[in-house]
Amino acid sequence: MKANELRRKYLDFFKEKGHSEIPSASLVPENDPTTLFTGSGMQPMVPYLLGEEHASGNRITDSQKCFRSQDIEEVGDNRHTTFFEMLGNWSLGDYFKDEQIPWMFDFLIKEVGLDASRLYVTVFSGNSKIDRDEVSAGHWQNKFTEVGVDAKIVDDAESNGMQGGRIFYYDEKENWWSRTGMPENMPSGEPGGPDSEMFWDFGEHHGLHESSQWKGEHCQVTCECGRFIEIGNNVFMEYQKTDDGFESLPNKNVDFGGGLERILAAKLDAPDVFMTDLFDGAKKVIEQVSGRVYGDDIKDTYAFRVILDHVRAATFLIGDNVFPANKDQGYFVRRLLRRSVRFARQLGVRDSLLSAVAKTYIETYKEAYPELSEKILDEIEKEEIKFAKTLEKGLREFKKVWDKSGSISGKDAFDLYQTYGFPLELTEELAQEEGQDVDREMFKKEFQKHKDLSRAGAQQKFKGGLADDSAESTRLHTATHLLHQALRTVLGDHVAQRGSNITKERLRFDFSHDEKMTDEEKVEVERLVNEQIKAAYPVHFELLGVDEAKERGAIGLFEDKYAQMEGKVKVYFVGDYSKEICGGPHVENTSELGQFKIKKEQASSAGVRRIKAILGDPQ
Ligand code: ALA
Repeated sequence: MKANELRRKYLDFFKEKGHSEIPSASLVPENDPTTLFTGSGMQPMVPYLLGEEHASGNRITDSQKCFRSQDIEEVGDNRHTTFFEMLGNWSLGDYFKDEQIPWMFDFLIKEVGLDASRLYVTVFSGNSKIDRDEVSAGHWQNKFTEVGVDAKIVDDAESNGMQGGRIFYYDEKENWWSRTGMPENMPSGEPGGPDSEMFWDFGEHHGLHESSQWKGEHCQVTCECGRFIEIGNNVFMEYQKTDDGFESLPNKNVDFGGGLERILAAKLDAPDVFMTDLFDGAKKVIEQVSGRVYGDDIKDTYAFRVILDHVRAATFLIGDNVFPANKDQGYFVRRLLRRSVRFARQLGVRDSLLSAVAKTYIETYKEAYPELSEKILDEIEKEEIKFAKTLEKGLREFKKVWDKSGSISGKDAFDLYQTYGFPLELTEELAQEEGQDVDREMFKKEFQKHKDLSRAGAQQKFKGGLADDSAESTRLHTATHLLHQALRTVLGDHVAQRGSNITKERLRFDFSHDEKMTDEEKVEVERLVNEQIKAAYPVHFELLGVDEAKERGAIGLFEDKYAQMEGKVKVYFVGDYSKEICGGPHVENTSELGQFKIKKEQASSAGVRRIKAILGDPQ
């Protein structure tokens, strides 16, 4: 089976069940500064899960493009990719468990033709407030029994292993889904719910990890040993976090997300996602140009996979108008392409390769994703040429430093970055090949020093009245943090950011709150924000572990659970008044902001209010 066929089959299956097919949203979320990229099918659907009406109705199916930047370094094994497609079907207050579980079973077993005896599922075991999901467990059991597969339900797989079971109860660590993970990690206002996950059995000695090691009878489907791989997740999105627990969302929703490539890998019984047909054309190009063969040599195969993944991700990102740059989303496109060049060199390739690889992806995907056009190739080529020059210079310089001192310090790494645009990650990879680490802390210190210097420069310009666009929006961005905190103080801790959009003239902030704000409340919010501005608080950020960020009272979305794997989040402190997870940039001191004024307060969608506000000139 080919990927295009599987995607079509899935969408048609749900269309037959009354769903509207909608196109994928962009990889860059709209008005959501909490996250740079769309990392799950659910992200663009949040307003509708919260109760807003969807123009396409209450049964929706799609295949959503996703990009997870935090997985860049993981790519190279046989299952990690930064870009993937998440198949989705959505009930917005329409059907629920009674339909979802039997449909999903029928799709996988009857439509795709997977062997039911190699499918395993997990269900939520409940907690003090939310019931055990016996409904889902019961449906799974019926469906397995219908096709003659033994379906024992097991309660304690976590401690005792699978025990011949097929359906397993797990607590909220496994069977609960929200963008921020477990219930206790959800900020007030965040939607979530119990889920039921499906796992494919690649067999004891056939795991997706090349180092796969089945650990025997005490192992379980959720183990990392590689025998099992999660192919999809049925989320029963019916709750919203409140300050002291949960309340029911206006609707009981279904959010199903399934990995297209993973389901395909299951169908092909090929525990290497790079063996699916999506990569056939690209692989052939790399083989032709490099003269090497995918799968022949483990180090080469690693390089193949990096190129295969990164060029595909860059192609889709550029297709969504993210161009190579030094910051924000563009930084990742640059990094993906530059890493690809480096790994191409490792395969002995010195000539241009990436745009030829990208071309195959456009061919493969353009029917499903018409935003992919040949224009993308020009961008890739430009970046490739630019980087080839950088690389030559940087490599020569790296070698010079290395020959002289036999090591690369954090300062050297920064100089390479600053002078030759040679990314830290590449310096690290080169150093690691020599068995050494680069002192990241020192690199960061140098980086900060440099930033402070250029900030001071920008600051002076600003004081001279030459504020540019970015200075305007930076000021409004910091004001947005003050506003967020002031709203929580005045209206309560249920207030959480739902969206933000900043132009150089005004800020726009969407937040969870049920009622129209009174005039008194608005005046008090303005007063509080202006009080902080007058107090001339310094602004700084710290990189904190998620737990520490929480302990210190940081607000904002802790991104999705995958972002947490990175280990650290960036928290901005405005004096002691506001602590918020955010990527920046911000002013250095609130005295730069000027008088804050709310221009408009209105409804945005069910349970969400919108404020537009401006800043006067700084005193
Ligand atoms: N939203 C669910 C996930 O991303 C389906 O796993």
